[in-house]
Amino acid sequence: MPGTISIKTINHVGIPVWDRRVSLKFYRDILGLQVIPSMVDSPNIVWTKTIDGTMVHLIEPSDGENLVDPHSAFEVEDFDGTVEELRASGYPEISDTSERHDGQKCIFINDNDGNRLEFATASGLHSSSRVADSLGYTTESGKNEVVSSHAKIKILTINHIGLAVNDRAECMRMYRDLLNINVIPHQIDGNTLAWTELHDGSMVHVIDPPKSLGSRADGRQHVAFEVEDIEAAAEALIEADIEIVEGIGTRHDGQQFLFIYDPDGNRIELATRGDHSSTRRTADENGYTSENGALL
Ligand SMILES: [Fe+2]
Ligand SMILES: [Fe+2]
Repeated sequence: MPGTISIKTINHVGIPVWDRRVSLKFYRDILGLQVIPSMVDSPNIVWTKTIDGTMVHLIEPSDGENLVDPHSAFEVEDFDGTVEELRASGYPEISDTSERHDGQKCIFINDNDGNRLEFATASGLHSSSRVADSLGYTTESGKNEVVSSHAKIKILTINHIGLAVNDRAECMRMYRDLLNINVIPHQIDGNTLAWTELHDGSMVHVIDPPKSLGSRADGRQHVAFEVEDIEAAAEALIEADIEIVEGIGTRHDGQQFLFIYDPDGNRIELATRGDHSSTRRTADENGYTSENGALL
């Protein structure tokens, strides 16, 4: 029976950080994300957003000692139906549902490989008078200290997230069959990952273990921020003394990309939007991709 879960877009990602003072110098001052009032009670989460409103939550350890796991939050059409299906799915570590100050409802679950996934309604369902200071510390009332960004880089949205998986066919039971995300041909060389695409064109890439490394001790987990101009972004990064560890590269759909690390070692990609609408590539149900009938 086809499921009812229908994901519209990536609502936000949660990125573990040690200290907002350090990480905001990267995310706010170099990448240009805007700090916004947090709609949760936990004082250890900084809410920020990209230009199209997609959010990036920077999460400090609530106990001061242990970094949380990263998570990816999907915005679904039918929240109650989604909750019902997730509960019936048997996937582990399912949370209770909760509601934020702006009316956004959410629930968490893990995939088979321990990737933490959140499912949520849209944000801002009702207005809130909460305000934040420049470090994202949020209170119920007062003055909202919006810091206008002088960053040269402008993050338009989240282009895709990269998730580390151990068994492609197994993980597709979650992403393809339960979450109904479209498997599309990838636009890189080899067949070490699968591309899947949400309704709005943002993507989830599930990435196989490299042969030479343990299952998770690597940089597969990443968030890709979309920029208009990769050359200009690279220049701004160099000016800010951020090391570009890979790229600028170009994928088969024309998407340009580069990789950097945030101050806590989270792998971050900057990428332009590719156009793979007229690709000659085809993908099987698990995302293994062929060109001219030959498996890459
Ligand atoms: Fe979240
Ligand atoms: Fe990526």
